[in-house]
Amino acid sequence: MEKNKKTKKPSNKKDSNQSIRGMRDILPKEQPLWEKAYSTYKEVANYYNFQPITTPIVEQLSLYERSNPEADLVSKEMYYVKTRSGKDTLALRPEGTPGVVRAYLEHGMKSWPHPVKLSYYGPFFRHDKPQLGRYRQLHQAGFEVFSSKIDPLYDAQVILAGFRFIEMMKIKNCSIHINTIGTPRCRTTYIQKLKAFFKEKQKLLTVEQKKRLEKNPLRLLDSKDKNIQEMKEEAPTILDHLDSDSKKHFMSVLEYLEDLGLPYTLDHTLVRGLDYYTHTVFEFILDPENEAEDELNFSLGGGGRYDYLVEQFGGKPTPATGVAIGIDRVLDVIKKKEIQVLPKAKEKVFLIHIGDLAKRKSLALIEQLRDAKIPVQEALGKASLAAQLKIADKAGSKTALIFGQKEAYEETVIIRDMKTGAQETVPLAKLASALKKRL
Ligand code: HAM
Repeated sequence: MEKNKKTKKPSNKKDSNQSIRGMRDILPKEQPLWEKAYSTYKEVANYYNFQPITTPIVEQLSLYERSNPEADLVSKEMYYVKTRSGKDTLALRPEGTPGVVRAYLEHGMKSWPHPVKLSYYGPFFRHDKPQLGRYRQLHQAGFEVFSSKIDPLYDAQVILAGFRFIEMMKIKNCSIHINTIGTPRCRTTYIQKLKAFFKEKQKLLTVEQKKRLEKNPLRLLDSKDKNIQEMKEEAPTILDHLDSDSKKHFMSVLEYLEDLGLPYTLDHTLVRGLDYYTHTVFEFILDPENEAEDELNFSLGGGGRYDYLVEQFGGKPTPATGVAIGIDRVLDVIKKKEIQVLPKAKEKVFLIHIGDLAKRKSLALIEQLRDAKIPVQEALGKASLAAQLKIADKAGSKTALIFGQKEAYEETVIIRDMKTGAQETVPLAKLASALKKRL
């Protein structure tokens, strides 16, 4: 790319030796959990026939502005990227749905056999207030369905896929909070009534809430504010303003969930923070089992139907529905509740070498064990026996292999039981079978 002379070097006042607030390193010890989340996502996607798609992390800013003009996630929480020419502003993706819709249109997927079912997994960016379950670089697993007609079956299937993911990660007591927000048409009258209801109570609203009332009164319904929580008990409900198709659609989604035996809670105040939804909206919420778990009372995932987004992006009317699971939150719950989701790690033998000849032959010995699928750990950079034994002990190894000068010369190795100290010398050729009997 051509160098732009006008571009100033970014100032570096903050400590560049520290990760950015709200963003984290995932250290080796945590990787098995992240790998488990990814393999579970793949299993769910494969089982329900979602094809994987990877979209760029950076997109045109307008993609998000068009899909969610009012949402906080776009107006307040987005990260911007200036292009080098300074002419365009791009955005770090705050969510996956708009990028997938863009890709659906860009690659002519409308001519693919429908439904087109796509899944994705990766990092997203939101300038949120960092705390447990709230990060500025977050990770989602998402599932989207584009179909030829509006079919409640697909709402149920994306809910099922999300719910199964959470269940396969061994999280219990999570329930599906579900609502319908009908079509934009039935919403118009409802919004007018809601506005009138809150206007009567204006004196009790904060400045921010008053702004919300003017811009998007629906969003007042999912405010966590105690005042609003009390007020909304008496607020008009969308259920009284649904047209017959919307009612029928919602009833049918609920029937599917009942047939599947999925636990759901009707929540007529659930509206979600994104602007593109119609009909079904839902969230997976963990029900804390005790007070100490109250901090985990967040949504582990959410989604809904978005029948107008493809059209809004210039395509033909295409019904669509989807879900995204917050991986960071799922893993936070697993860690906090100490849920055992990982299989017991395969025991590794610890190879200890003494002397130059043994060191030289060590890598070949490891290859011999690799062929036999026996995992090996080592500290070949250390020379002393005591130092290597200490590392083996710290690693919790139950079996060590001692490969000294004499053993290397005689093509043997000592198998040592780290707990009892019992030792046995075996020929290298019989090492794999001797170890398999022990492990
Ligand atoms: P969303 O509700 O904005 O929906 O995000 C989905 C999930 O991402 C949330 O339920 C939560 O678990 C997780 N999440 C959101 N913000 C954060 C954060 N700051 N830190 C950690 N986790 C977070 C969407 O993104 C829609 N695209 C879902 C969808 C797909 N709708 C239709 N298709």
